[in-house]
Amino acid sequence: MSIRRKLIGGNWKMNGSRTMAEALAKGLVARCSERPDATFDLLICPPAPLIWSVAHVIAETPVLLGGQDCHPEASGAHTGDTAAPMLREAGCSHVIVGHSERRQNHSETNLLVQAKAKAAMAADLVPIICVGETETERDRGEASAVVADQVESSIPSGAGPESLVIAYEPVWAIGTGRTASPADVQEMHAHIRSVLTTRLASADTVRILYGGSVKPSSAQALLALPDVDGALVGGASLKAEDFWLIATSCP
Ligand code: PGA
Repeated sequence: MSIRRKLIGGNWKMNGSRTMAEALAKGLVARCSERPDATFDLLICPPAPLIWSVAHVIAETPVLLGGQDCHPEASGAHTGDTAAPMLREAGCSHVIVGHSERRQNHSETNLLVQAKAKAAMAADLVPIICVGETETERDRGEASAVVADQVESSIPSGAGPESLVIAYEPVWAIGTGRTASPADVQEMHAHIRSVLTTRLASADTVRILYGGSVKPSSAQALLALPDVDGALVGGASLKAEDFWLIATSCP
């Protein structure tokens, strides 16, 4: 048994309505209540306007709540942004930062991701810092270097092993139905753990999640890998049954 408890996160992205979100959360709460001995933590990250509705459904249950992004500042004139303390007040314990869709569509740099992670930690949230190479970078043999740079540059100083989570999400695997091979995933996760030791006193307890087209059919092989401490799931997290099948694939 690994010293790291598995974390299965659902990144709902910009999907859902209040009705759908509450039904999905209820479905997960019901399944969790049947598995009080679960060996994993279950986290859901709804879009910001739905967080409060979901928070009511999962209150007093083991299901964890997370945001999908936060601003580096705690408040201010930032139209459209969400502050980390707001997520905390709504009941979140985690927040995703530096997702590749934000790095690409909103030109987020490692420095900005680091500032967001710092703001999350200041608000008592655990940042899930996303890293991952593009297909071109992998084809050029640059994947390891790109990911190492993202890890080193996105982690705030003063972070402890329990205060952050890393999600390795190869960009070419997100939403494409293509999953990295278990061998490639293990190699990259071990590499990330060794890079982490340059920034943290110890990386043994840092949870490193894999993300990118994780499905019930691929989950078991991925979650059995020694350095894979959970999954960040997009599309398949929108169906309670599929998300639960992934979570219960944990060894
Ligand atoms: P996907 O998304 O599972 O739909 O590929 C994963 C993610 O972007 O976190």
